[in-house]
Amino acid sequence: MRKPEPNPAFAASLIAWQRVHGRHTLPWQNTRDPYRVWLSEIMLQQTQVATVLGYYERFLQRLPDVAALAAASLDEVFALWSGLGYYSRARNLHRCAQAVVEQHGGRFPRGSAALAQLPGIGRSTAAAIAAFCFGERVAILDGNVKRVLTRVLAFDVDLAEAKHERALWAQATALLPERGIERYTQGLMDLGATLCTQRAPRCLLCPVPAHCAAARAGTPERYPVKTRKLRRGKREHVWLCLLWRDEVWLVQRPPTGVWAGLWSLPEFESHAAFETASGAWPGRGESLASFTHTLTHLDWTLHPMRWRLPDRLGAARRGALTRAWPTGRWFGLDEALAAGVPAPLRKLLTPAGAPLR
Ligand code: ADE
Repeated sequence: MRKPEPNPAFAASLIAWQRVHGRHTLPWQNTRDPYRVWLSEIMLQQTQVATVLGYYERFLQRLPDVAALAAASLDEVFALWSGLGYYSRARNLHRCAQAVVEQHGGRFPRGSAALAQLPGIGRSTAAAIAAFCFGERVAILDGNVKRVLTRVLAFDVDLAEAKHERALWAQATALLPERGIERYTQGLMDLGATLCTQRAPRCLLCPVPAHCAAARAGTPERYPVKTRKLRRGKREHVWLCLLWRDEVWLVQRPPTGVWAGLWSLPEFESHAAFETASGAWPGRGESLASFTHTLTHLDWTLHPMRWRLPDRLGAARRGALTRAWPTGRWFGLDEALAAGVPAPLRKLLTPAGAPLR
């Protein structure tokens, strides 16, 4: 493997390209406020810019600074996050804000090493915040940048191995320019997002073809090399929409796993399990349209079953029936919409669709 070496011409070309062709007006740019930059970086980790825009504005309007976020309830944070997915990000966001308030007097620490100690901030995110807000000369290496740099370097060893990933960090660090880290960092992100895409990269428009070993060999799509394959799983559940008057029974999901900490519907392993449980329930059940929700590792098919309890059912009978879910409680339908609920449940609850109303 090639020894990490500086390449000032690579950085200079990238910086010049970013100045003309890069993105300059995203709402988290043109600020050095670490709260705003941090929030954007966390939202952008698994989510496209177009989706993030609306969430970002709403989040900032409601929680404009780190003190407001630290003081908010986790439920409120989940509600603002609802639909963005990967909810451990929201939990960590809240924990990180509390750590900034409690351990750093309400100000983000100014170096990437200290930032990387905070909950939910990995090495690359810490570097992005430090580069954008404090001009620290430090390398980022998110998914897009890995793709760009493995192509530039024809870095053909397996990134699933930690030693190879470490080597790529060293290469990324060697390539940093002496000056202009902000624009260089944004340029790498922009190049990865707009031209140096996973499939059909647009090498004709690229600002650094002379520096790109993969482009010269005509093989950009061979990179990055990663052998560890995602094995997608399948899962299937009956999803119980238990209604009484204009309320729905929601259960809080455990703190780890899919939709950690969100309010959701009780699940049954199979229709048979549901029928056994509901055999003696008053009222009646009705199947709603099944759908498959796609998660990173999992295709999850849900079969919603609406069960309306009689309006006159007393508290004792209702209590006996819902005792199976100790983390649950009744929510008004609008109250449920305002809580942190996963996107498919939001759809069921939204008045336009109205299957629960
Ligand atoms: N993805 C991650 N960080 C980003 C940023 N600052 N601008 C655009 N896309 C990004």
